[in-house]
Amino acid sequence: MNARSSTVVADDLVKTYPGNVRAVRGISFDVRAGEAFGLLGPNGAGKTTTIGMLTSTVAPTSGRATLAGIDVAADPIRTRWLSSVVFQDAVVDQPLSGRQNLQLHMRLWGVEPAIGQVRLAIIRALLSAPEVLFLDEPTVGLDTRVRHDLFDVIGTLRERTGVTIIMTTHYLDEAERMCDRVAIIDKGAIAACDSPSALLSAIGRDILELRVDDPHGAAGALAASGVAPDDVVVIGQTVTASLRDLSPSDAVRVVEDARIDVTATTTRPATLDDVYLRLTGERIGTTVDWEG
Ligand SMILES: Nc1ncnc2c1ncn2[C@@H]1O[C@H](COP(=O)(O)OP(=O)(O)O)[C@@H](O)[C@H]1O
Ligand SMILES: [Mg+2]
Repeated sequence: MNARSSTVVADDLVKTYPGNVRAVRGISFDVRAGEAFGLLGPNGAGKTTTIGMLTSTVAPTSGRATLAGIDVAADPIRTRWLSSVVFQDAVVDQPLSGRQNLQLHMRLWGVEPAIGQVRLAIIRALLSAPEVLFLDEPTVGLDTRVRHDLFDVIGTLRERTGVTIIMTTHYLDEAERMCDRVAIIDKGAIAACDSPSALLSAIGRDILELRVDDPHGAAGALAASGVAPDDVVVIGQTVTASLRDLSPSDAVRVVEDARIDVTATTTRPATLDDVYLRLTGERIGTTVDWEG
């Protein structure tokens, strides 16, 4: 690995906060120049802590982060010249004349304040012409339209500058849409790391969800007709099966033939939430509230 082909490297990063909070338990990845890399996981997974170690705001308990071959903890100033961060709690400073200037232009161009705030945070991060842009939960709290504006701005930025992007999110659609590769983070460790399409193709094409009176009986019936145990998850009365060979209607018939009462059936394409569920046995628990 050299500095050109490998811009950002996390090498077995560990962070244990006081009180023995094991926020990050040995995370390693390698982000190529120009790549958009996502850290996907629920609140508390250790995403912000990982970004902190890559940007010198959090000192690793052990392990090493490097940017273009430079050790972040050993030489924070040099690595800060190469990167910028848009923090989770986006803050743009008090009114400054520069900001007023931008606001004037926002008015001139008819840019709405909410969209303007987003662009402003990005503009500020870009002032140093970073090679690497870290975005920590960039769309939390934004409405749908502003979210899409941000996607567009970041897409344009990538095309024009080839900037490397490392972002965190707990929005599955965002990871799928924005990232070339996604590391799924579960309790401070990487559960899987690949392109969204590869992660998705590792599970079946159709996801079948059944509400049943005997979920474990249903899981057993599906297993008996060739559905791999790893492809079936039971949570409460709901059985979620990732189907490869069996059609959804055949799968429902298999369960009903086992004299199990099916009260509701849903078939849908697989999402990264299904990948996460399969890896961790839990749902990320946050899906995007697409409005209007
Ligand atoms: N400064 C801190 N001191 C102690 N614990 C912390 C601190 N920052 C984060 N944590 C804990 O570390 C874990 C990971 O947090 P964080 O990295 O913020 O996760 P995420 O960004 O994925 O939500 C959580 O349990 C959180 O409460
Ligand atoms: Mg966070």
